[in-house]
Amino acid sequence: MWRLSVSIFLFSCLFVSSSSLGDSEATCSGIVPLRYRYDKISITDFGGVGDGRTENTKAFRAAIYRIQHLKRRGGTLLYIPPGVYLTESFNLTSHMTLYLAKGAVIRAVQDTWNWPLIDPLPSYGRGRELPGGRYMSFIHGDGLRDVVITGQNGTIDGQGEVWWNMWRSRTLKYTRPNLIEFKDSKEIIISNVIFQNSPFWNIHPVYCSNVVIHHVTILAPQDSPNTDGIDPDSSYNVCIEDSYISTGDDLVAIKSGWDQYGIAYGRPSSNITIRRITGSSPFAGIAIGSETSGGIKNIIAEHITLSNMGVGVNIKTNIGRGGYIKNIKISDVYVDTAKYGIKIAGDTGDHPDENYNPNALPVVKGIHIKNVWGVNVRNAGSIQGLKGSPFTGICLSEINLHGSLNSYKTWKCSDVSGTSLKVSPWPCSELRTTGGSNLCSSTF
Ligand SMILES: *[C@@H]1O[C@H](CO)[C@@H](O)[C@H](O)[C@H]1NC(C)=O
Ligand SMILES: *[C@@H]1O[C@H](CO)[C@@H](O)[C@H](O)[C@H]1NC(C)=O
Ligand SMILES: *[C@@H]1O[C@H](CO)[C@@H](O)[C@H](O)[C@H]1NC(C)=O
Repeated sequence: MWRLSVSIFLFSCLFVSSSSLGDSEATCSGIVPLRYRYDKISITDFGGVGDGRTENTKAFRAAIYRIQHLKRRGGTLLYIPPGVYLTESFNLTSHMTLYLAKGAVIRAVQDTWNWPLIDPLPSYGRGRELPGGRYMSFIHGDGLRDVVITGQNGTIDGQGEVWWNMWRSRTLKYTRPNLIEFKDSKEIIISNVIFQNSPFWNIHPVYCSNVVIHHVTILAPQDSPNTDGIDPDSSYNVCIEDSYISTGDDLVAIKSGWDQYGIAYGRPSSNITIRRITGSSPFAGIAIGSETSGGIKNIIAEHITLSNMGVGVNIKTNIGRGGYIKNIKISDVYVDTAKYGIKIAGDTGDHPDENYNPNALPVVKGIHIKNVWGVNVRNAGSIQGLKGSPFTGICLSEINLHGSLNSYKTWKCSDVSGTSLKVSPWPCSELRTTGGSNLCSSTF
């Protein structure tokens, strides 16, 4: 136990000092105060066995029950030593740190039969994939505050293959579990952890505020279905930075509820910063939508480095969504090899049921995309608004999307208005600046 506390202490110090060094560039540090936890327990104190075979569900539940009920001042750190800890899903509690040592793996059982079900989210009205409830996320937090998941780059492994195969063979009964979901929670830090093979979306903060996610690695095969990296959903004050994400779906996708349910719940996503993300995916690098019914505003994404992408930047919504997407600033994006550089579309995604309102048209307004450099990009861009709700204030500046031999060297636009400056290839006429006015740079 003595060596254990010393090593945790040393690593906490390293963690604190390294995160306060980067003052020269903007960081998320400081948004959520990093509390030192004097009280430390290890999963092995609760019978945890890291042999990769023993089930540790009771150990996790007992350890977290202890944290929840003893309520030690300053909260408690739950240490996961090196080893592979197989477990069913479990709930976190407030004022705790889940600390994974180097070589620690928390691995989900593949028992889909006994996986707990929880209620659908009110802003979705049903499970995202199938009607009714949804499987609880592997690691779950509901109504919490002051929770940290960190360590020395240990791994949280969803063993998602069994779920992907159920999706492929259409034998799922309910919506697949996220790897981690925080719902109605605040003051959350996730850092220095590797997430792999999530059954569905990896990290899903929904109805949350003050969430920092940095120095994480998220991995899932390119052909794994719907393994989005990080999906802030109806949440505000979220900062995501310095991470590597390579999955089978969007790397970061900001959402805010689905059609009539999302409109009725009315919870926007706002004040979200995404920076210094690197990664690869057959879908989008930075995505907004397509579930945007509670509204999405005040988003900044910058210094994004992408390779082998479906779409670099993808803003997507649909009729029936209602809500809005406004004041979005995306800059300094580098894309190496993509089908599309930039895509803004009003015809993406499905509806929860037949009762969506076809007259609920989203408002898309004030999208500023600046300093994008792409090589081997097949289609520069496509910006297609809605007939009854044209996209306005779309402003592109300093964009260079170089194609491959067989690429389309034009932009496709419809029902859109805005400006452009130094965009190559030459943008569609709807976005051509007249009179040399420089509307783009003045708003950045
Ligand atoms: C975990 O949290 C969910 C959602 O709040 C709840 O339905 C479930 O009963 C909890 N499970 C346990 C084992 O406490
Ligand atoms: C963990 O991985 C992240 C992302 O690759 C890296 O920035 C960080 O230095 C690593 N931390 C440790 C403690 O190894
Ligand atoms: C926006 O979020 C940042 C953290 O990303 C925070 O520092 C800032 O205070 C927030 N602004 C508002 C208006 O809440």
